[in-house]
Amino acid sequence: MHTGFSGHVRSSIIPEPVSVENRRGSFAFGGQMDLFVAGGDVLLKDHALWLKEMLERIPGVYIQVRQFQQGQSLPPRGIVLALADQPYRAEGYVLDITSRRVMITGDDVAGVFYGIQSLRQLLPPALEDVQQSSSLRNVRVSNTRIEDYPAFAYRGLHLDVGRHFFDVEFVKRYLDLMALHKMNTFHWHLTEDQGWRIEIKRYPLLTETGAWRKETLVGHGSRPPFRFDGTPYGGFYTQDQIREVVAYAARLHITVIPEIEMPGHALAALAAYPHLGCTGGPYEVATRWGIFDDVFCAGSEETFLFLENVLEEVVELFPSQYIHIGGDECPKTRWKECSACQNRIRQEGLADEYELQSYFIRRIEKFLQTKDRRIIGWDEILEGGLAPNATVMAWRGVRKGIEAARMGHDVIMSPVGHCYFDYYQADPETQPLAIGGYLPLSRVYEFNPIPEELSARDAKHILGAQGNVWTEYMPTPEHVEYMAYPRAIALAEVLWTPRRKQNFDEFRTRLHLHLQRLDILGVNYFRSE
Ligand code: ACM
Ligand code: ZN
Repeated sequence: MHTGFSGHVRSSIIPEPVSVENRRGSFAFGGQMDLFVAGGDVLLKDHALWLKEMLERIPGVYIQVRQFQQGQSLPPRGIVLALADQPYRAEGYVLDITSRRVMITGDDVAGVFYGIQSLRQLLPPALEDVQQSSSLRNVRVSNTRIEDYPAFAYRGLHLDVGRHFFDVEFVKRYLDLMALHKMNTFHWHLTEDQGWRIEIKRYPLLTETGAWRKETLVGHGSRPPFRFDGTPYGGFYTQDQIREVVAYAARLHITVIPEIEMPGHALAALAAYPHLGCTGGPYEVATRWGIFDDVFCAGSEETFLFLENVLEEVVELFPSQYIHIGGDECPKTRWKECSACQNRIRQEGLADEYELQSYFIRRIEKFLQTKDRRIIGWDEILEGGLAPNATVMAWRGVRKGIEAARMGHDVIMSPVGHCYFDYYQADPETQPLAIGGYLPLSRVYEFNPIPEELSARDAKHILGAQGNVWTEYMPTPEHVEYMAYPRAIALAEVLWTPRRKQNFDEFRTRLHLHLQRLDILGVNYFRSE
């Protein structure tokens, strides 16, 4: 299994690096130490300060951060953060530890950051906590050379803040954990039937009305009779808070992709602005889960004016190249009976309501292109004709991703069978209420984002994969962590580590050690035994 790698090919790092070569001897942390940073990059300097803060938790260690010029002869001792003269792979790095020097050479600044995350995982877990660090003695890391880069460019984790709302503090913590595992894309699901969570200056009712529901379903929502808790619920992010999260993520090399759902899952928006629905309302912010017939009217120009104005503010807040426009689970019931929608079908020469949805998405894509942005949509956007430049997020199965890739579209794999972290992770009898399904850690780990039947050319369209955390049955931050971890760690390794180096049993051994770190960080992960 381990052919092609010399020395000890396993590390304690998760995700497992591409190549590890262990050597005799070790590097000791102690006393006055220099941390050299190449060049003047602000973010790189920021990473150096983070590392300094962490290492100075070791009793007796004092770190002096010094700048050195790229190309200058290398400092023989200390810790060095440098950039490669000839970058090899985006986000890649070499971590070279000898008895005299710990050197991280990134192919870019993100690479240095990931090298630091690997070094962090070679250090004692106690370092994660200021208190526990104070008892550390004689901290060393074994000499080693690690060469590493990701298998996939898109390594995503999603969070639904519509069904339940999670504050900025928790979102930052969620991002911190992603970064520890070298995940680089946060898909922020910001609008839902049950709540609109992003302040839009031009439409204040979206949050004054749309961010609040009068009560919430109790128990499972699959069939009546329904019971409710009678307690108003809601919350939203101000634009300042959104900017704060985006900036925080950028320091962790995480891109934040916002999702503004359309044409379905729009009840909260309709409750605020009922003229945007086919019937004109009145509508209520949803209080139970599922799919609702009332969606944005595709016949009304008002709908497009509204969405373009909303997106205008969204693109100002999010530098991400991609904007996710939803597109999933949009019933056609209202459109069939709406004269405006039927007029649109006739005027545009569309065959049916599926083509009307396609018209909707194409029109939004065209608008976002004028802002130099690209769209991602859930795989339903394949129906009725795909928007020309859309990236497809395949959730109903890898088949949908195969279909899109063969049409020459980029794909992010997020199939329910491997990537839905709202599914049960063990026998439901032993677990808190969840939406259903069964997705144990091993199923996540087994996932191959590149289906074997894809040709090499089509496989290039698979950008990566994403874990989805839908929160109907996750009312608290602790519960979100319980469902996301450790499954998100398995996905992180699927997306980073070369497939030939993946091995579930061996992963579990490393995970066992790694969970000590999560314990110290206070993560409420699911414990399998
Ligand atoms: C989805 O799970 N409805 C994308
Ligand atoms: Zn309509």
